[in-house]
Amino acid sequence: MSQTISIDKLITVDGPSGVGKGTICLLLSHQLNWPILDSGALYRLTACAAMSDGTQENDHETLERTAIELDVRFESGDNGLRYFLRNEDVSEKIREEATGNMASKVATVEGVRAALLDKQRSLATDTGLIADGRDMGTVVFPDAPLKIYLTASAEERAERRFKQLKDKGIDVNIRDLVADLTARDERDTNRKVAPLKPAEDAVVIDTTELSVAEVEAQVLELAQQRFS
Ligand code: C5P
Repeated sequence: MSQTISIDKLITVDGPSGVGKGTICLLLSHQLNWPILDSGALYRLTACAAMSDGTQENDHETLERTAIELDVRFESGDNGLRYFLRNEDVSEKIREEATGNMASKVATVEGVRAALLDKQRSLATDTGLIADGRDMGTVVFPDAPLKIYLTASAEERAERRFKQLKDKGIDVNIRDLVADLTARDERDTNRKVAPLKPAEDAVVIDTTELSVAEVEAQVLELAQQRFS
């Protein structure tokens, strides 16, 4: 097992799919001028590589090798970071529902998680980091000085995603979204390695009844208390 690292300027933001971690990380990143580690993107990139290789979800050995040999590059684009896998721009592809589903299966494989652990830790620097994921506060950065855990009911998260997709002109069925999120929650919380759960010292915010602005205000206050 790799060593743990300790750095002063680090905020972990964990929680289930569709809870709004991305929005909150972006806000913190703008306020503090610290970069974001989108750990989910690494699982999505691994899933993307496995899908294009035709690797089956139960072939753990090949999935582990895929994660170890992951050939990825990140570049800043006009609308945020662009993700390249084996020199191909897969920034849109990794956000597709099919990739997300495969990512959540790939993420249950112990060897895959071990392979991605060092890649994630190597992104932490003294200049600060906002780490977005499922196990940032529990496994990857257990010494982080501020840990936030966002949660919301599956129905509320599905509703938010439904609106997001609708705004993009994508037609989806809300019942399918609830079923999808529930299946991902189950895989994330019941897996043996690094299951989704709040770190003991995390601040848990249930956002079900809160507006984005209310969550932002709470999180910014926490960051100000901790880092100013
Ligand atoms: O957050 P995002 O939806 O992009 O993550 C894709 C999948 O990767 C999640 O459904 C989850 O199963 C997995 N994941 C994980 N640990 C992380 C980040 C994501 O298991 N730190």
